[in-house]
Amino acid sequence: MKFFVDTAEIDAIKELHALGMVDGVTTNPSLIAKSGRDILEVTREICDIVDGPVSAEVVALDADTMLAEGRKLAKIADNIAVKVPLTWAGLQTCKALSDEGTMVNVTLCFSANQALLAAKAGATFISPFIGRLDDINIDGLELIEDIRTIYDNYGFDTQILAASIRNANHMSECAKIGADVATAPPGVIKAMANHVLTDKGLAGFMADVEKAGIKIL
Ligand code: E4P
Repeated sequence: MKFFVDTAEIDAIKELHALGMVDGVTTNPSLIAKSGRDILEVTREICDIVDGPVSAEVVALDADTMLAEGRKLAKIADNIAVKVPLTWAGLQTCKALSDEGTMVNVTLCFSANQALLAAKAGATFISPFIGRLDDINIDGLELIEDIRTIYDNYGFDTQILAASIRNANHMSECAKIGADVATAPPGVIKAMANHVLTDKGLAGFMADVEKAGIKIL
């Protein structure tokens, strides 16, 4: 499973990238607003760091303006994936951009039917939002499973990009189901390293290091 990092914070991207943990980046208007940066400028900077797909989201609601925005975003770098919402206008924009050879990430997906439409419209990535479904008591991981089954049934090339990931457990569950990509905030990726027994075991080893005066350097 590929790891995308869900942030527009340059330092966080650089830190994870140095460890080989970043196969791509996703942003959205809320993350751009949080960064306090200009969308074109910060997206260009991210593309200079990361070779893999960098999702940059359109902000218009009608297809014509979305397409113009998408074309402008796509000019930033070769690894831009234009992110469009899963609306009818978003699907029209997805089809037009993918026909032009631009990668498209269709976002705000909350149902298997929406994912089916995105695949038919030529999406490179579909972004089902796990956490926001869990927030309303619907099993987000079940949606990932359903989309996996449907895409495999018909051989769709669209990659499942599990999004709205809120905890480390979501990451391993997505990997078990067979999501192609998971995008998560830097804190969730780092939290995957944590285990209470690792902490306990290390504390025991350190106590013995102290007791025996073990030194290496
Ligand atoms: C990524 O593409 C999504 O925009 C993001 O994962 C949404 O996460 P949230 O539901 O925690 O805001």
